[in-house]
Amino acid sequence: MNDIKTEESMGTIQDRVPSSNIKRIAVLTGGGDCPGLNAVIRAVTKDAINHGIEVFGIEDGFLGLVEDRIRPLNLDDVSNILTQGGTIIGSNNRADPQHFPVGKDDQGNTIFKDLTDVCVTHLKVRKIDALVVIGGDGTMSIAKKITDKGFNCIGIPKTIDNDLHGTDITFGFQTAVHIATEALDRVHSTAASHHRVMVVELMGRNAGWITLHAGVASGADIILIPEIEFDIDIIVEQCIKRSQKGKRFTIIAASEGAKPKGGDQIVDRIVENSPEAIRLGGIAKWLANEIEERTEIESRYVVLGHVQRGGTPTAGDRVLSTQFGHHAMELLKLGKTNRLVVMQGGVLGDVEITSAADKQRLIPANHPLIAAARSVYTCFGD
Ligand code: F6P
Repeated sequence: MNDIKTEESMGTIQDRVPSSNIKRIAVLTGGGDCPGLNAVIRAVTKDAINHGIEVFGIEDGFLGLVEDRIRPLNLDDVSNILTQGGTIIGSNNRADPQHFPVGKDDQGNTIFKDLTDVCVTHLKVRKIDALVVIGGDGTMSIAKKITDKGFNCIGIPKTIDNDLHGTDITFGFQTAVHIATEALDRVHSTAASHHRVMVVELMGRNAGWITLHAGVASGADIILIPEIEFDIDIIVEQCIKRSQKGKRFTIIAASEGAKPKGGDQIVDRIVENSPEAIRLGGIAKWLANEIEERTEIESRYVVLGHVQRGGTPTAGDRVLSTQFGHHAMELLKLGKTNRLVVMQGGVLGDVEITSAADKQRLIPANHPLIAAARSVYTCFGD
């Protein structure tokens, strides 16, 4: 990865002088949920209480901050949640305080206002000194606006998509890969029984990390990711070749954001007022139909969807979430704010919180895992 920094340039905690006045913090989970959120909330809350810092939970992400739904979190609240999926304080991937709907005008058009100041007021009224924001790029861009108002924030990188700039890995990703791999493995046997092409559509928005990792882990024959545009003729040729060689099936792992050369992604829906309005979906159905029509090989598709975001986190994600939560608290205890906790080159550290705002970390064309997959004859449709 080009953006890997050394431990020194990330600024490790050991070099820093303690200077904290942080007595009260609030925690917020923003954007789509993912496995490991509760593990982070637990780590932050326990560490804070352990050091005499009071903790508040903001309900339903930035929506709850605008609406002043903030409640104390104590040790009982976070007991026994390490392995639980979801988030005990709720999340929201539509509310953006900078562009918040406050009513309708005479023509019925929605009126939007910037309510960032209202958010900061709600925190200050409770004498909260810092906000721990757990989220992806959209959440970090809102956190940046709050830091611009002079309020302390620490970011913790979350998303199954693993597309957050500044960190090699986000928590939630490993669990999503595990679930996607299991789905691909299961589809394998039924595809073989029926001599079918099976296309499995995986999440990730514009980034193919889940698909690349799960595709390699399950030995998918074809991996389609948004970063490499595919040629449908090559996919069709590949399915026919496999069939002629006596292979009884073809497994295709397809990112929801995969697109044909010169073509567009398939949009499932537009979620109005959401900072990221486009929801992708439909590529697996399109591919299965196209392949069946052109090869006469029976084809089916599976859309794994939100299964990838649900349930208990893997051991790896539980560990990462605990490390991220602890590091966030170490920063606050040392008086460091406006940082994003990151993992770079296997080293836990932190960068400016702004590093992750409104940017996506996509798979570079020269990524070693793409080369490894190609070396075992995996086709990327190019
Ligand atoms: O960013 C996480 C993610 O699950 C994406 O992979 C997916 O495209 C999107 O969120 C789905 O959003 P929603 O939960 O609004 O359907």
